[in-house]
Amino acid sequence: MIDESIFPGPGAVGIAPQTASAVVDLGAFSRNLTRLREHVGSTPVMVVVKADGYGHGMINCSRAARQAGADWLGAATPTEALQLRESGDQGRLLCWLYGPDEDLEPVVAADIDIAAHSAEQISMITAAAGAVERTARVHLKIDTGLSRNGAAADRWPELCAIAAEAEQAGAVRIAGIWSHFAAADEPGHPSIARQQEAFSAALTSAEEFGLSPEVRHLANSAAGLTLPDTHYDLVRLGIACYGIEPAPGLAAGVGVDLEPVMTLRAQLAAVKPIAAGEGVSYGHTWTADTDTVVGLVPLGYGDGIPVAASNRAEVQVGGRRAPIRGRVCMDQFVVDLGPGATEAMGDEVIIFSGRDRGPTAEDWADVCGTIGYEIVTRIGVRVPREYR
Ligand SMILES: Cc1ncc(COP(=O)(O)O)c(C=O)c1O
Repeated sequence: MIDESIFPGPGAVGIAPQTASAVVDLGAFSRNLTRLREHVGSTPVMVVVKADGYGHGMINCSRAARQAGADWLGAATPTEALQLRESGDQGRLLCWLYGPDEDLEPVVAADIDIAAHSAEQISMITAAAGAVERTARVHLKIDTGLSRNGAAADRWPELCAIAAEAEQAGAVRIAGIWSHFAAADEPGHPSIARQQEAFSAALTSAEEFGLSPEVRHLANSAAGLTLPDTHYDLVRLGIACYGIEPAPGLAAGVGVDLEPVMTLRAQLAAVKPIAAGEGVSYGHTWTADTDTVVGLVPLGYGDGIPVAASNRAEVQVGGRRAPIRGRVCMDQFVVDLGPGATEAMGDEVIIFSGRDRGPTAEDWADVCGTIGYEIVTRIGVRVPREYR
């Protein structure tokens, strides 16, 4: 059933749900989270719902996450975090990515924890805290080797000193210290041990400045599954909750069964025979070598279907796999139903799902040279989400 209050309906989204939709199985999402929580034991978990819940719908996933025991929610941007508050979420919530000109007052006022990695960011947060007359909850981020955001090791003591001063002044509470892995999804990668050491050193140094965070956190899904030493006080779980392996076999290897959450499906919008020698789609990058029957799927790169899937990925029709033929277009692509196929317009196509229902998002990622994260997250705003 579509939640009309969250998702306004086909008029606004551009494709009628009977024609194509992303069916989101919130039961599977909850079961994944329950299994992941069992796996990490007593350590609290943050469920990461940024980027519209990795394309699955941020609000509905956040509600399912809370019901299944998420202690924290994680958003990338302050705007996402504010949307979560507006939806009624009142639990612990962290956001971590913002620019120098953003207004953080509403974020502090809404009791949203916010990350900081520089003196400038502490100043922004302190100013916002003063304006709304609240103590801001801050998570200091150390760059342990990802070279994205986070304070470099040589700037860390200075950041701790500034943060400790702001804490003593009552402007901020250093609620967390954290970092993020570069390659936790590659067991044995040399960066893992180096990042753990750097994180441990940063914690010791912060302690010397009198900082005593409530939560120290480093682990993502991959580390949550395979690196118990990195769990500290909180594990940040994203992709695994959505039923996608951070890397092939990682969850399965530790006995955690993940169920795919999103099924992307459509109805065939046209079916027709083509003769041997006929070219298909823009540029005729595929030509039929025998007489066959092709079907038209009404989704394209405007909806997040990668052009890289052209002539590579497969869909499921009538219980069998049908390969994409020719180039994926903005709104549609063509599949080869095979000689003598009896499908008709309106028959169902599973673009990806899982298990015995068709290819998985990981299968698509594999043939497109990308990651499962991207396959689900890029499903566009025209595609209605239906919640089961
Ligand atoms: C800072 C941070 N923590 C945690 C996560 C969750 O990672 P994953 O989806 O691999 O579990 C992400 C996602 O990219 C992230 O950016």
